[in-house]
Formats: sequence, C-alpha cells, structure tokens
Amino acid sequence: MPIAPYLLLPRASYGQGLSAVTPSRAAGGPDREGSADLPAAPDARLLAVPFGADLAPEIDLPLPAGALLAHYEAKGEAGEIVEVPVANGDAVGRVLLYGVGDASATALRKAGAAVARRGKGKDAIRIVLPGGPVAAFVEGALLATYTFRIGEPKSPPAAVLEFVGDGAEAEVARGEVVAGAVALARDLANMPSSVKTPAWLAERAAEQGVAAKVWDEEELRSGGFGGILAVGQGSVNPPRLIQLSYSPEGATGHVVLVGKGITYDTGGLSLKPTEGMKFMKTDMAGGAVVIAVLGALAALGVRVRVTGLIATAENSFSGTAQRPSDVITQYGGRTVEVLNTDAEGRLVMADALAYADAELDPDVMVDIATLTGAISIALSKHLGAVFASDDDLAAELTGAGESTGERLWRMPLIDDYVPALESSVADLANIESGSTYGAGSITAALFLREFTGKRPWAHLDIAGVGRSTADEGIFSKGATGYGVRLLLDWLSSR
Ligand code: BES
Ligand code: MN
Ligand code: ZN
Repeated sequence: MPIAPYLLLPRASYGQGLSAVTPSRAAGGPDREGSADLPAAPDARLLAVPFGADLAPEIDLPLPAGALLAHYEAKGEAGEIVEVPVANGDAVGRVLLYGVGDASATALRKAGAAVARRGKGKDAIRIVLPGGPVAAFVEGALLATYTFRIGEPKSPPAAVLEFVGDGAEAEVARGEVVAGAVALARDLANMPSSVKTPAWLAERAAEQGVAAKVWDEEELRSGGFGGILAVGQGSVNPPRLIQLSYSPEGATGHVVLVGKGITYDTGGLSLKPTEGMKFMKTDMAGGAVVIAVLGALAALGVRVRVTGLIATAENSFSGTAQRPSDVITQYGGRTVEVLNTDAEGRLVMADALAYADAELDPDVMVDIATLTGAISIALSKHLGAVFASDDDLAAELTGAGESTGERLWRMPLIDDYVPALESSVADLANIESGSTYGAGSITAALFLREFTGKRPWAHLDIAGVGRSTADEGIFSKGATGYGVRLLLDWLSSR
C-alpha cells in the first residue's frame, strides 16, 4: 500500500514588510496596480489582519474598523475572528480580522491556530503578523493545519500560509522550525505499527542530520541490554537502541534525553483489552519527541551538547514473549522480576538510563515516556507530569512548559513507597506486588529512578497528553507531539 508523504504541513512563505502586500491592494481596494498579485477567484486566498492593531485602518474596509468590530460585538480575544466582506474588483472578497487577546505567547498561539483553521480548502492565507512573540503565532498557525492521512486528504488545509510583517523573519523561521519538529513527532506517532517497526524508527532517526548509532539485536545482546531484549523478544520485528548525538562546538554542558519507543504495546502475555490496545501505536510518542528534538537543535542554535537515546521494541503477544514471573537482567546487572509484561516501558527505559549513567557522563538526564495510564486519571489529558530528583530541574521544565503551553505538573517521588517494588526472587519487581500503595505513576517513576545513579534526573509521563481526542486549536485528532516544544524551549535557554 502506498504511504502518503508524511510532513503535510503547508508551505510557509515570508513577505518582507508590509510593502510586500499593501492590505488595501490585497483586499481589492482602490490601489489596483498590483492586482496581478490577486488570484482570479477572490475567495481562493484570504487576508488576515490583527484587530486592535494600527494596521486595520489601512485596509479599505466597507466601514471603519471600530464600527465593524462594535457591530459584531467583537472583544478582541485570542481566537476570535470577524469576517468582513470587502470589494475585490467586481467581486466580493473577505478579510479576517483576528483578535490577539493580551498578545502573550499563549494568546498568539491560539490566535494563529484560529486564523489558519479558517483557511481550509483555500489556496493561501496572507497573514499580517501581530506584534509580540511572533514565533508562537506562526507555530500555532502551522500546527493547526497539521493533518495525517494515508490516502487522499479529506479537507486539505490552506496550501500556503504567507506571513507578512516588519523585521519578523527570524521569529517566523523559529516558529517554522519548532512546528516542523512537532509535526515530525506527530507523523512518527501517527504512523501505523505495521509500517513503524523498531528498525523503521531507527531509519527515521538516522535522517535527522545528527550522528546516529543503532544497536541491533545481536549488539543489544553482547552489550547487556536485557530489558530492551526481553520486551522485544515476542515480536517478529526485533528491538533496537538508537543514539543520536548533537555536539555543537564549544558546548558547555551535556544533556541526555531518553525516549520510550514501544512501536506497539499489546501488553504482551499480560494482554490489554481491545479498548485500551487500539491506541497503542502511539506508545513510542516519547521516542518520537526525542528524535524530533535532536533534529531541530542545530537550526535553533542550541549551545548545549545533547544525546538522545530511544529504546525501541514491539511488545507483542506470542510464544516467544516473556512470561509474567520471568527474571531479566537489566543493563548494568540489576535483576528484575517481570510480574506484568504490560509494564514494559520501564524495562526498556531502565536499560537506556543505566547506559547513559554508566557511559555518557551527562550533567542532566530527562526521560519522556507514555508510561502509565494512571497519570491521565491523576492529571487529565491536558497536563503532563514531571517527576524530578532535582528541584531546579523541575522548576526549569515546569517554566518551559508554561511558556510553550505544554504544561507540566510536578508529581512526588515518595520514598516511603519504594518497598512496593520489592521482589522475593530478584533485585526489583516491575510492578507492585504484596503491598497496597497503589500510586501506579509514582511507583513507575520510582522504578526508573533506580537506574539514574545520583544524577539530576527528570521523568516526563506523557501517557495522558500524548494523544488528542479532538481536532481543535493547535491539535488534530491523534498524536500531539507533546514535549517537543517544552524541551526545545528548555534546551534553548541552557
Ligand atoms: N503504554 C502503557 C501506558 C499507557 C496507557 C499509555 C494508556 C497511553 C495510554 C504502559 O505500557 C502500560 O501498559 N502501563 C500499565 C502499567 C501497569 C501494568 C502497572 C498501565 O498503565 O496500565
Ligand atoms: Mn504496557
Ligand atoms: Zn507501554
């Protein structure tokens, strides 16, 4: 079956300054000299202009902007759009006046998304940029048009988003890079698992323009990666460990990012019910985030050294699958009694964290994983979780979450619950047994902590936020790419 090209973002183009498009001309006002610039069908392209801005009066509107906005009872909130008919030659065109709210990054992201969503089926939208953090506006506009479809697109987004504004070129470019990285993470997570094997994921990772090293099954065995191997042993698609390295000249610190890359999670012999299983192609969303982040660092001029590790395997149900009660040996020699094969994410992550601690000498480790269903019960599908061994790191990540709109809530690592993971036959058990603490997301995080040495470490549980059930704002139904924007923001500020 042919697979449609992924990366279906519209082209973004950039017009230098308002002279590139005098709004009155684009709207079909009195200055017709440039009307070659306008497509024949006035509705094939839209012009969008922020309201409340000085720009609105420059447009040849049928009535003064203030009167129009009052007539429509427009408040200027982010996401609000007033559609105004304007003369375009003998035809009627439309101008979108869009609200920007308080012009914060959050407001502009929302405004951008709303404008772009009005462009469905149009050839182009020419968007006069607002003042303020323009990158967030561009990011919102591009992400709102994201679609993933195998086959013909149903209602294609505007083919071109043309941004117009003075001196905003660098900000537009930044917004494009960030949105492109999020789109890549979404594409990878939305790809069906029949295509997306661990080897396929490794190939996509190796295309990101940074140094890549991939451990195949043999190399995992000789390297002692017992967790990744045990989870992958039930599948005809063998597991991989992927390492991506970004080393800018004169880098000061070294950050290791670790992503969960379960290309499909049946639960293994601890089989999931159908209801829960059908979403499990996105169980590599954390790994997808790490791949996309590594691919965007150079374009954003990030100055810290970053190593990405993606522990990828398919958790299948078969005669060669690991059994509940098997004992495995993780990287570094710790033994784990596998009491539930559906708690597989922590097994692959533990190998990668232990390897990073032993071999990579990072200053900081951050992992990102769709680790526990319990986290979306605790925090909903709109708030990610951060667990951290270090208060400053927790604050930095939470702050990056606030400014990018990928919010995180800090969860506790409660030492009293450590006995939950005791095993009678191994160093650790992979789930709680014999005690009744509950707290499934916390005990999962405590399990990971065992493999992080004494290093500053944070764990992001994105099981709730990794997938959207609605086509709304900057999200479309399916993978969200949650974590890309906050990690890029955090790494850019280091
Ligand atoms: N991949 C799942 C977690 C998940 C659940 C992600 C729902 C996205 C949506 C993980 O591997 C898993 O199955 N976790 C178990 C842990 C349990 C067996 C201790 C869970 O959450 O039920
Ligand atoms: Mn599972
Ligand atoms: Zn899983």
